[in-house]
Amino acid sequence: MRIGPYQLENNVIVAPMAGITDRPFRQLCRRLGAGLAVSEMLSSNPKVWKTDKSMNRMDHSGESGIRSVQIAGADPELMAQAAQFNVQNGAQIIDINMGCPAKKVNKKLAGSALLQYPDLVEEIVQAVVGAVKVPVTLKIRTGWDPANRNGVEIAKIAERNRIASLAVHGRTRACMYKGEAEYDTIKAIKQSVSIPVVANGDITSPEKAKQVLDYTGADAIMIGRAAQGRPWIFREIDYYLRTGKHLPTPEVSEVRSILMEHLLNLHQFYGEPMGARIARKHVSWYLQSHDQEGQFRRVFNALEQPEEQIEALENYFETLAAN
Ligand SMILES: Cc1cc2nc3c(=O)[nH]c(=O)nc-3n(C[C@H](O)[C@H](O)[C@H](O)COP(=O)(O)O)c2cc1C
Repeated sequence: MRIGPYQLENNVIVAPMAGITDRPFRQLCRRLGAGLAVSEMLSSNPKVWKTDKSMNRMDHSGESGIRSVQIAGADPELMAQAAQFNVQNGAQIIDINMGCPAKKVNKKLAGSALLQYPDLVEEIVQAVVGAVKVPVTLKIRTGWDPANRNGVEIAKIAERNRIASLAVHGRTRACMYKGEAEYDTIKAIKQSVSIPVVANGDITSPEKAKQVLDYTGADAIMIGRAAQGRPWIFREIDYYLRTGKHLPTPEVSEVRSILMEHLLNLHQFYGEPMGARIARKHVSWYLQSHDQEGQFRRVFNALEQPEEQIEALENYFETLAAN
């Protein structure tokens, strides 16, 4: 899979997830086999760029791999400026968000709400592509609602305006996250354009990844929620796609070392008190299959200090290893 001048190491990509795909998570996923990790969306409104939240989202220092930065907004001029700003800040790919159904994004007419206005989609894409020298990618849903799956129309707009690759989540905006993703529209999109197409939605296993790739003919797959607490899913899928065989699931000792590395990086990246707070949801995802009753997680979630969190987890894993 190629995006402009960049050859990805494989075709398994980390989906942008606000509040999750921060620098520590992206780096971990890359180390564990992802070919590319897209950053959390950044608003195109310059008034919010100086907030702590945006500053953290813009932090790419020391990040290995290709830096793909997602921007969200509905004003072509502001989107163009946001793209330029992020390229100056180190972005090597600009990704436009037309896939997010969140009310917060949509009430300002952005994210997947834009799919209802193809002319505006074209203006935004033209403005952003024209503003920067780096490749611009686009992320969409299959359409506005099930009666208006205009993904093929949007894909053609993307292609004729030099979008370098198109990621498609197999749900409409109205579907939010309900039901199951459908791949027929992704297949139709792939057949109607010659730019690379990335299939996204409900890919949770190596087998599903292969089925979706085979069925849609897509060039790559993108994984979001299934990577939460399971960042090694990228190497598992990549290995299966290359060899047809399964990697063994990671031993508890490896889960421990991955989780501790992630925890320390979160503490360092966000500082206090945010680091410890943000760590809670990640720890909860990692331990879902071990701590089924959620007993440890309830205790862990009450801890405020980074050192307390580290100690609690070390004790937890020691007890697990002793049993
Ligand atoms: C918590 C969360 C945050 C998300 N944030 C973004 C975002 O910032 N930009 C975006 O394009 N999509 C966002 N998405 C959508 C995902 O990128 C992806 O399209 C969706 O989760 C479907 O893929 P999955 O089934 O593999 O999770 C988000 C999804 C979740 C669950």
